[in-house]
Amino acid sequence: MAFPDGNETGTFLALDMGGTNLRVCEVTLTEEKGEFDIIQSKYRMPEELKTGTADELWGYVADCLQQFIEYHHDEDKIEQLPLGFTFSYPATQHYIDHGILQRWTKGFDIEGVEGKDVVPPFEAALAERGLPIKLTALVNDTTGTMIASAYTDPLMKIGCIFGTGCNAAYMEDCGSIPKLGDMKLDPSLPMAINCEYGAFDNEHKVLPRTPYDVVIDKESPRPGQQAFEKMIAGLYLGEIFRLVLVDLHQSHECEIFAGQDISKLKKAYSLDAGFLSAIEEDPFENLSEVADLFQNKLSIVCTKPELELIRRLAELIGTRAARLSACGVAAICKHKGWETCHVGADGSVFNKYPHFKVRGAQALKEILDWPEHFGKGKGDPIEILPAEDGSGVGAALIAALTLKRVEVGQNAGIKDPEAMAQAAKLAKKANPFN
Ligand code: GLC
Repeated sequence: MAFPDGNETGTFLALDMGGTNLRVCEVTLTEEKGEFDIIQSKYRMPEELKTGTADELWGYVADCLQQFIEYHHDEDKIEQLPLGFTFSYPATQHYIDHGILQRWTKGFDIEGVEGKDVVPPFEAALAERGLPIKLTALVNDTTGTMIASAYTDPLMKIGCIFGTGCNAAYMEDCGSIPKLGDMKLDPSLPMAINCEYGAFDNEHKVLPRTPYDVVIDKESPRPGQQAFEKMIAGLYLGEIFRLVLVDLHQSHECEIFAGQDISKLKKAYSLDAGFLSAIEEDPFENLSEVADLFQNKLSIVCTKPELELIRRLAELIGTRAARLSACGVAAICKHKGWETCHVGADGSVFNKYPHFKVRGAQALKEILDWPEHFGKGKGDPIEILPAEDGSGVGAALIAALTLKRVEVGQNAGIKDPEAMAQAAKLAKKANPFN
């Protein structure tokens, strides 16, 4: 319910359960305004875990936290460390330290978690291991990204992830959030909104879909969900590409890879967005790197026209992803009437996919009707910039802001959320840095 003002302090743990890796950080927000120190460890998120049991999942997550604490605080006696948990899935939150998983996204499919608060089983796994950790805030990666980016750049108004999944968060006024109507909060109070716009157009009423989009959806663990995300996000880009190639091989009009064994290409999800990036990155006119990739990874020898088709196909898939991603950002800006702002973006596709940024900036210019000289990214009225570390620093900051709000409320002897919010507002007014 607030942006940081740069004066937050303290030491916090941050846990990021994103989709590809699991990361644990210890973030110290220092006395210097807007500064922090961070130590972190990354753990692989084993593929089997994503479709295993809830006990295995929480056990593994708690084991990683335990390893982190043992490694970094071997001999130290630590009191309870507050934790910001970045849980990047759609969750219904009535309180900041709770979250009912609406449904798994990004290929996760663990039974018995959907529809329930994820915090109690997580805390039980911590308690079993006797870990001195207190979950203070459950946050989405987009919210963390927005808060972390705003910590160092006051023009940041939106946090986005273009990675394994795609989504954005922004700050809304409580008065414009119908589902908070009953709480009678001060309408001008800010509230972070996790848009979950990966689920945009689940009804398939707006965006044209290719037959390949239809297959991706049908074969996924949650058909009918995350329609927009399935066209854009890193998890799916390589698979869209693979499906097109298999189809072209089988089609009578254009028998590519004729007479070759394409059994490796036939394996679902065998190509990732990194493969597509490498195709788009080949600097050579004769596409010799693409040829090597196909030979080494798929045992397919390509002709020159096939190589050109492969490159064009990668460009089309990458361009569609970047342009649709820009639509999400443009939609928030239009909704809020923002003509200029900074957008903090993170995720593997944003950071690593070639031309993604420029293609996105060009699309923003077209959607928002900017004059010709804009659309290059740098210096544009709405600029999508690399974010600060949302699931580390962002989660820690949200934990810090939460503790501050609770403290303000407790000092005033306040228990109910509305009064708490009012107290927080008073505290904000009283703070000269706001
Ligand atoms: C998926 C999740 C969402 C997350 C996004 C990016 O869309 O549902 O919560 O923000 O991926 O990681």
